[in-house]
Amino acid sequence: MNVLSKLGSALLAGVLLQASSASAADAGAVERGRYLVNTILACGNCHTPKAADGQPIAGKELSGGGLSFNAPFFAGSASNITPDKASGIGNWSDDELKRAITQGARPDHGRLAGVPLAPMMWVAFYKAMTPADLDAVVAYLRAVAPVRNVVPLPEYKRQVPRQPYPDAEKGFTEADMRNPARRGAYLVTIGHCMECHTPAKEGKTLYEQALGTGGKPFGAAMVKGYPADWRGSVSRNITSHPEAGLGRWTDAQIKRAITQGISRDGHPLQPPMGFFWYSGLKEADLDAIVAWLRTLPAAE
Ligand code: HEC
Ligand code: HEC
Repeated sequence: MNVLSKLGSALLAGVLLQASSASAADAGAVERGRYLVNTILACGNCHTPKAADGQPIAGKELSGGGLSFNAPFFAGSASNITPDKASGIGNWSDDELKRAITQGARPDHGRLAGVPLAPMMWVAFYKAMTPADLDAVVAYLRAVAPVRNVVPLPEYKRQVPRQPYPDAEKGFTEADMRNPARRGAYLVTIGHCMECHTPAKEGKTLYEQALGTGGKPFGAAMVKGYPADWRGSVSRNITSHPEAGLGRWTDAQIKRAITQGISRDGHPLQPPMGFFWYSGLKEADLDAIVAWLRTLPAAE
């Protein structure tokens, strides 16, 4: 073998090596994205159409219209976020997707070009995703099957400012992911648990004053897409308060509530909480969530 062909095969081997490690990294990102989207992020709770029993319809993953909202400021459905070019996000770049997920901005082309996303797309929480996790979510969205499903255009009735979530503003680091209670804080943030579990007054959720004390109502008049017999529910106190909250619950009882929708006394819990999705959470991540919940000061 002469020097040139040796060099050639070394280069080729280098290219092949790079290509295979790049696709291994991609495969890892898609798997991480699949895990996040289908567990703690529960994107499908809103974006995947549901059957009459409330379970997501197989083969329709993320194709839009899973939930429809009728709020004083917005009427419309969760969009088709599959890679279908005509009715989904197939023509969006990775950066455009990231801006939608973390800033609520639509790109300046295609359906509803430049129109900001309605507030029930919880970007003030999703912005806390680490760069690696955001890459993973985008890699996964690119990998789901494209589904043709035209979601009707929404109606924007009035602008409402997005409310920042304190932990998302502070942000998280990769080092945080190795500390269970910090990782729990991260998961609870990107899962927007506290958006539902904190009461609101005059349209503002009281994160600084009443974090985790529950009492926010959810009703069938405002949200469509759950089983027809859903009559609505009110979020619970999940602080460490011994009577009002989770103070006397065991870790196993808390995990069962999150993943199976069964309260401490055994009664079934109602939507909108995404028990179906949370059932796929890894044990270590559930432990991290519980570890963080235990740090919430007792409050009523
Ligand atoms: C609470 C319900 C809800 C959840 C959970 C949710 N979304 Fe959305 N999303 C919406 C709604 C509603 C819209 C449409 C808003 C509008 O039309 O202004 C939307 C729009 C979008 C869009 C813009 C697409 C377009 O063409 O309009 C993207 C991208 C998106 N969501 C991605 C995600 C991802 C990724 C997740 C999980 C991290 C997620 N969403 C979780 C409700 C939700
Ligand atoms: C979309 C709103 C929403 C989100 C997001 C949400 N929850 Fe809930 N959660 C509720 C509601 C409403 C209930 C009460 C349901 C009922 O009474 O039937 C509840 C019930 C619970 C319960 C049972 C409390 C009891 O007293 O029975 C626990 C524990 C809980 N949630 C923890 C969490 C955690 C942890 C997260 C994030 C991983 C989370 N929730 C995300 C709305 C939400």
